Amino acid sequence: MDRNSVIAFLGKDWDSMQALIFKALGSDVPMLDEINRRLLENAGKMLRPRLTMLFARICGGPVLTEESLRYAAAVEVLHNATLLHDDVADEAMTRRGKPTVMSYLGAVPAVLVGDFWLARAVGLLSDCSDMKWTLDAFTRTLTDLSEGEMLQQQKAFTSDTTMEDYLRIIYCKTGSLFVTACQSGAKSVQASEEMIQAAGRYGKALGLAFQIRDDILDYAGDEKTGKPLGIDLLEQKITLPLLGALSNSPDEQKWRQMIHEIPLHPGNADTIRDFVLSNGGVEFAEKKLEDYVSEAEHALDIFPDCTEKEILAGIAHLNSIRTQ
Ligand code: IPE
Ligand code: IPE
Ligand code: MG
Ligand code: MG
Repeated sequence: MDRNSVIAFLGKDWDSMQALIFKALGSDVPMLDEINRRLLENAGKMLRPRLTMLFARICGGPVLTEESLRYAAAVEVLHNATLLHDDVADEAMTRRGKPTVMSYLGAVPAVLVGDFWLARAVGLLSDCSDMKWTLDAFTRTLTDLSEGEMLQQQKAFTSDTTMEDYLRIIYCKTGSLFVTACQSGAKSVQASEEMIQAAGRYGKALGLAFQIRDDILDYAGDEKTGKPLGIDLLEQKITLPLLGALSNSPDEQKWRQMIHEIPLHPGNADTIRDFVLSNGGVEFAEKKLEDYVSEAEHALDIFPDCTEKEILAGIAHLNSIRTQ
């Protein structure tokens, strides 16, 4: 099922969830309100709230509670806050095919708008029924996000990223929010612990697969991504396609030294990119991606067959071929 069909399947609940997001982002500071409006007009794929709502339905049936919608809205607002900050960290000029706040206003407003979205995400959660669970889950994810970004920065200085480091980084910066998106859907309908755990396993595997696909697109994507391409290497991030090419090469240290010297010799990035593309880097990453897609699908085994289960399995498979 494609994205629009899933949204149609979610029906009025989807509209109510979007209304919560719009309401949460109003401000009487005109500049902030105008920026928020622009951002909302150019929303992304909105994958995370779809996951929250589908897990609420697969665990609790088709009638969703206000709490399910609040969690769904909160994860999307939180995700957007991280993108506002990420575009500052990456000095990215475009996102979703449009100039980033970072590019047209600079780093300070972009960080402040990101902070506002973060605060409003938390505000959406203020009425949840098990506040301890909610606080634990969202604090863990926010901690993971900061630690993942910091570890990524640290590794960009040392160019010594291992497979273990890479998996930790992508879990923290992407997987963790997917886990919280899926588990909060389950939690919002008082699902059993077994179901919450299964939602977590699906979210983790899909989150890793999702970031791996993003990292492949940075090497092999086109303008459909709506983002600058080749930016990971320029930022000296060693992602899975590069790790794959390195594992196929007898000269790993020589290549790592070249990565280390990119700030001094920006032309190195083109040479390394060609090395990744001609040494099986993308294929290596695609294979690992498929492993996580299967893992995500298997996490759904405990649920009886139903449309929600089909959609969730389909989302995992579609991730392997997405171009944006
Ligand atoms: C981008 O996430 C950041 C990553 C985790 C790769 P999305 O690809 O979900 O971004 P939007 O919201 O659809 O633009
Ligand atoms: C994901 O990493 C960023 C966050 C989860 C905040 P990227 O830096 O690869 O994301 P994009 O490619 O800019 O969307
Ligand atoms: Mg980025
Ligand atoms: Mg990326």
